[in-house]
Amino acid sequence: MRVPITKPLFDDDDRRAISLPLETGWVVQGPQVAEFERRFAAFSGAPHALACTSCTTGLHLALAALGVGPGDEVLVPAFTWVATANVALYCGATPVLCDVDPSTFNVTPAEIERRLTPRTRAVIPVHLFGLPADMAAIEALARPRDIFIVEDAACGFGARIGDRHVGTFGHAGAFSFHPRKALTTGEGGMVTTTDAALDTTMRSLRDHGASKSDHARHGNAGAFLLPEFNLLGFNYRMTDMQGALGVTQMAKADFVQARRTALAARYDALLADVAWLRTPVVPAGVTHGWQSYVCLYAPEDPTLARTAELSARRNALMLKLEERGVSTRQGTHAVHTLTYYARRFDLHAHDYPGAHMAEGLSLTLPLYPTMTEAEQDYVVEQLRACGP
Ligand SMILES: Cc1ncc(COP(=O)(O)O)c(C=O)c1O
Repeated sequence: MRVPITKPLFDDDDRRAISLPLETGWVVQGPQVAEFERRFAAFSGAPHALACTSCTTGLHLALAALGVGPGDEVLVPAFTWVATANVALYCGATPVLCDVDPSTFNVTPAEIERRLTPRTRAVIPVHLFGLPADMAAIEALARPRDIFIVEDAACGFGARIGDRHVGTFGHAGAFSFHPRKALTTGEGGMVTTTDAALDTTMRSLRDHGASKSDHARHGNAGAFLLPEFNLLGFNYRMTDMQGALGVTQMAKADFVQARRTALAARYDALLADVAWLRTPVVPAGVTHGWQSYVCLYAPEDPTLARTAELSARRNALMLKLEERGVSTRQGTHAVHTLTYYARRFDLHAHDYPGAHMAEGLSLTLPLYPTMTEAEQDYVVEQLRACGP
């Protein structure tokens, strides 16, 4: 049996949807993108949602619209996809890495507090793998100091704190529709905000700084004149093929999230007696979005000193699983150990112990809505046979 790490869910509705724009001829940021935005806003409860080309460009739009720039520091977790830090550099600001708790993989508020300086302009909490960051504690640190909060909700679809969806706590939140995420449009992103003025600025920035979108202009008389361009913008427009796919993907959102949640609960039960694997922690009052089911490999209590040796054992286990048809992955990477960051900011593996341990010991198991119980049983059977 072969069990992939993920499998996007596409059906005939998706296949029909992506050909719609080819029939109408409106292929970029048109009616389908607008409908996708409406559906995403309704699902997340965010008053404003704007589609763009990726979560990365969404985060960039948010920072740029908030005016983050040279001389500013942006706090980001040290264990996250590199894009979270890169967007600060795109704005000419400095990313300041904060360590994470390897038991949740999320940034700790204590680390955020420790890294604050008078130059801190923004913080990007990441809801890693779908587990909401501790937004109450982060807001308590940031709001009184007028520090902007931009949530990296790349993995946050379906994740809630109480009944509030992530992406609605900060000044803005950015989601990803890369194929590793719960819903996919190939590439794609969505930015949510509760701030109407910020929404307007981001809409302009994603479209070269234009004061009016092509779609809005073409619906009215006088479409022959180009609008005013007041800002230095980018081209981060989503295509209408992707927008159409987003609409039909949204129609499956409840099913997809229910399946992911059920499979995660089933993993919890099946792995309860596997002492060397720590299954994901979900604090009370929080809904995990289950973008990924990421465990911590811990045949012994993980310490910084033992991380390299334990990590080599984890990698050997992942290789054995791969040989038996079970795909696994490390959770994500520790930004401070990536060559570009290590060189540019003179960083060393042990500077961020939590991130270093998370990178070396995290173990992602296959999870996708069409996964069968037989496939899941096979994953657990092979884990037991190959581990620790
Ligand atoms: C935490 C995090 N932030 C940002 C991104 C970037 O998302 P995208 O590929 O849509 O730009 C990812 C993608 O994996 C991610 O996991």
